[in-house]
Amino acid sequence: MPVVTASDLVVRSLSELDLDGIVRIAEKTRHRYQPDLWEDRVTFYLRRDPEGSVVAELDGDVVGFMLGDVRSGEFGLEEETGWIEVLGVDPAHGGLGVGKALGEAMLERFRQRGVRRVRTLVDASMPEVKGFFERLGFEADQMTPYVKRL
Ligand SMILES: CC(C)(COP(=O)(O)OP(=O)(O)OC[C@H]1O[C@@H](n2cnc3c(N)ncnc32)[C@H](O)[C@@H]1OP(=O)(O)O)[C@@H](O)C(=O)NCCC(=O)NCCS
Repeated sequence: MPVVTASDLVVRSLSELDLDGIVRIAEKTRHRYQPDLWEDRVTFYLRRDPEGSVVAELDGDVVGFMLGDVRSGEFGLEEETGWIEVLGVDPAHGGLGVGKALGEAMLERFRQRGVRRVRTLVDASMPEVKGFFERLGFEADQMTPYVKRL
């Protein structure tokens, strides 16, 4: 399988100019066109942690994004924790290593900031996302998500 080489792909910090690309990718992966929602999300992540989110660019086009940040105190976790919260790769460029490049860049950024633990939540109805994180080295955590419907 062809793999995107490091020289083709640029992984860099998220900018507000990436909004259109993110909206386009999310429309393909989620089958919903939600520009307002993504504008809120991009603004939120940039404000909370400007270096905490990355995009992948191929020939000047955004082909993937990964949004997250570093926080402490959440859920009683005292240590600084890197969180990967939202991601998407353009299906036209899927299976080529774009997601892996995004994930490795995020992990390296977290590592350089002194973070020793990175967390995410994966929806059980998305086995491809679970497989993806497992390949990045993630494993099941002792924290269990709970929900109560109102
Ligand atoms: C999951 C996703 C990020 C993978 O991106 P990608 O660029 O295709 O992945 P890569 O080519 O970089 O693959 C990286 C690794 O993950 C594995 N992987 C990728 N897709 C997988 C799948 N469907 N099932 C199992 N493993 C998978 C690859 O085998 C690869 O493993 P390797 O390192 O041993 O080669 C992408 O398919 C995606 O964006 N899906 C939709 C996400 C979504 O809906 N998000 C909303 C919730 S936040």
